Amino acid sequence: MAATSEELFARDAHHYFQMDLTPPERVFLDRIGTRWGSIDMLDLGVGAGRTAYTFGAICRRYVGIDYVPRMIELSRSRVGESERCRFEIGDARDLSRFDDGEFDVVLFSFNGMDNISHDDRMRVLREVRRVLRAGGTFFFSSHSLNVFPFRLIWPEVSWRRPFKALRWHGGAARRWLRLRIGNRSVDAASVHARGWSLLVSDAHGYEMQIYHVTPAEQLRQLRHTGFACDAILDLRGRPLADAGASRDDWLHYLCHADAIGHPTTQ
Ligand SMILES: C[S@@+](CC[C@H](N)C(=O)[O-])C[C@H]1O[C@@H](n2cnc3c(N)ncnc32)[C@H](O)[C@@H]1O
Repeated sequence: MAATSEELFARDAHHYFQMDLTPPERVFLDRIGTRWGSIDMLDLGVGAGRTAYTFGAICRRYVGIDYVPRMIELSRSRVGESERCRFEIGDARDLSRFDDGEFDVVLFSFNGMDNISHDDRMRVLREVRRVLRAGGTFFFSSHSLNVFPFRLIWPEVSWRRPFKALRWHGGAARRWLRLRIGNRSVDAASVHARGWSLLVSDAHGYEMQIYHVTPAEQLRQLRHTGFACDAILDLRGRPLADAGASRDDWLHYLCHADAIGHPTTQ
């Protein structure tokens, strides 16, 4: 039987052991700037505590949740809990333990939202909107459908070291083949017309279906769940003037909750 996403995350927990923020996350950090001390933050899919290490130390109140109990154990042991900073087992699809407008900031980092179905994703967006106060910030990343069909990208490695070059080229070719075979039944034209698709990717040993979305469809989902998107950032943290043309594997969405939330069911 295929492993569930929860089992794959628990198995691969060590992938999330680093503690530093990525360039787009540093843009998000700077965006709130000197206001962090008055911020109540919810960190969804907190994993092994990478983002908690920074945000747990600077928020007025920080809550990290994850649906994999092992991740919460890791966050507790690596970052530590205090009155201001705590970790709980919980699923982002059901935030009913939290009140409407309870948080100023919600984070779902490292594409944590990409392992669930389309309907569940919409549920998460509606739940995030509900627990955010009007004007509050939501920051998350997601795999981009712009990169599908996956291209064969040769590594930049010198043939002066032929064994290394061969190994790297072989690895790139194998990866591309696995992606082509894994997604052979996906029709590129129709998923681009729809704007999203669950795809086999190289994450978690090709075992997890990963949600990929076009920037245009992601913006539509955000509008329909009561958010306005202020910027789409590339992997280096630069705002994109034309996200539709980006070939980055993931994109980061910096959003705020509209004054009047108007979640729809789509
Ligand atoms: C890619 S890891 C990222 C971990 C951490 N946020 C980081 O940036 O290092 C995604 C995390 O989200 C968690 N996750 C995925 N779906 C979730 C859900 N529906 N509710 C709560 N946690 C979830 C996984 O268990 C995993 O720990």
